[in-house]
Amino acid sequence: MSDLLRVRGLTVAFDGVPVVDAIDFTVPRGGALGIVGESGSGKSMTSLAIMGLLPKGATRAGSVTFDGGELTALNERGMRAVRGDKIAMVFQDPLSSLNPYYTVGAQITEAYRAHRSGVSRKAARRAAIEAMERVHIRDAARRVDEYPHQFSGGMRQRVMIAMALSTEPDLIIADEPTTALDVTVQAQILDLLAEVRRDTGAALILITHDLAVVSEVADSLIVMRHGKVAESGTAEQIFSDPRHPYTRALLDAVPRIDDEIGALQTLGEDT
Ligand SMILES: Nc1ncnc2c1ncn2[C@@H]1O[C@H](COP(=O)(O)OP(=O)(O)O)[C@@H](O)[C@H]1O
Ligand SMILES: [Mg+2]
Repeated sequence: MSDLLRVRGLTVAFDGVPVVDAIDFTVPRGGALGIVGESGSGKSMTSLAIMGLLPKGATRAGSVTFDGGELTALNERGMRAVRGDKIAMVFQDPLSSLNPYYTVGAQITEAYRAHRSGVSRKAARRAAIEAMERVHIRDAARRVDEYPHQFSGGMRQRVMIAMALSTEPDLIIADEPTTALDVTVQAQILDLLAEVRRDTGAALILITHDLAVVSEVADSLIVMRHGKVAESGTAEQIFSDPRHPYTRALLDAVPRIDDEIGALQTLGEDT
């Protein structure tokens, strides 16, 4: 697999103080990278730096190559083309990314038509319904005309994923996509992201403070702490043999299904 995204020495600073500090990572074509770390460790600034969407006052240094091209050399117009076409983002809070005054169908349709010139309204509407079906929203032909507030949090996140897919991206960056959702819905959204990746071949960067979340989806991981990469490797390596005490602390916070089964078996033996 050739590399889709190569990040080298990426640094983001506010007033000269780095919040992302010379980090390196690589995402192969079709691969899935997890970025894990506690709140404030620089995860979101990393993704915003890749997308050229940093807040005012932030400075960026280092290299971001995507599909062989240097993204940091692009102007705003060039970056807009990348964002609308090659890299899609899914955020934690779908309500803040959806416009409350437009139906979800209108918003998926707009994303779809922005990507394909000359598509009729009717064809775009059909594509929106198909996109909703693809992310397993039931009764899509009716729900396409509903407004964001008529959807549950999990269903809104499905709408966001449908919008992200409408541009047929090569890379999806999901920043805490399940943090606002309850645990069962979290699992469904993670399954959906894994399925999307399988079906479309898109690569995925999954950002989370919760190590349990990435274990489901990512092949490789970087663990961030204070803006630096504390540890990196395959998900398997890091789960079975964490090197950094910080990673071990994160792992200890993860409830282990096998531990619980073990505990249940012990209970059974006792009685
Ligand atoms: N506009 C800003 N001005 C100054 N510091 C900021 C700004 N936005 C974020 N930061 C700081 O950057 C650091 C990294 O933030 P962020 O990438 O959002 O963390 P994470 O996503 O890992 O929770 C934090 O310490 C945060 O306080
Ligand atoms: Mg964040």
